Amino acid sequence: MNFKITTLLTLAATVIAAPNPTPVEAAEVESRAVTLIELWGDSNFLGLKYTGKGDLGYCYNLPGDFNDYITSGKAYSGYVCTTWVDKNCYGTGFSFLSSSKFPTWIDNKSSSWMCEKY
Ligand SMILES: *[C@@H]1O[C@H](CO)[C@@H](O)[C@H](O)[C@H]1NC(C)=O
Repeated sequence: MNFKITTLLTLAATVIAAPNPTPVEAAEVESRAVTLIELWGDSNFLGLKYTGKGDLGYCYNLPGDFNDYITSGKAYSGYVCTTWVDKNCYGTGFSFLSSSKFPTWIDNKSSSWMCEKY
């Protein structure tokens, strides 16, 4: 086997091996998701509570039980959070650090959320 062919085979093996993350790497990605937001069904942080874990700058849809249900919310310390009236962070958004009662136009209407560094 000449040198050129050996090199090509080695490169091919590297390319095939690279994209498969090991289970350890997958677990590390998972563990980076931190608690960013708390949302409640009633005003003044009362009623059923949704705790949102995730990554900064990513949009999350509220699960069915909490969709169109939220009336108050808090961003965890160091973050500012926004909820949107539509899924996938579309429509009109309301940003807050802490809101004991969402404005009427988005009260019981939040469908998705995202947090960023404050
Ligand atoms: C939001 O839902 C609560 C509980 O069902 C209700 O009391 C409140 O009037 C609703 N707010 C709006 C703006 O519809």
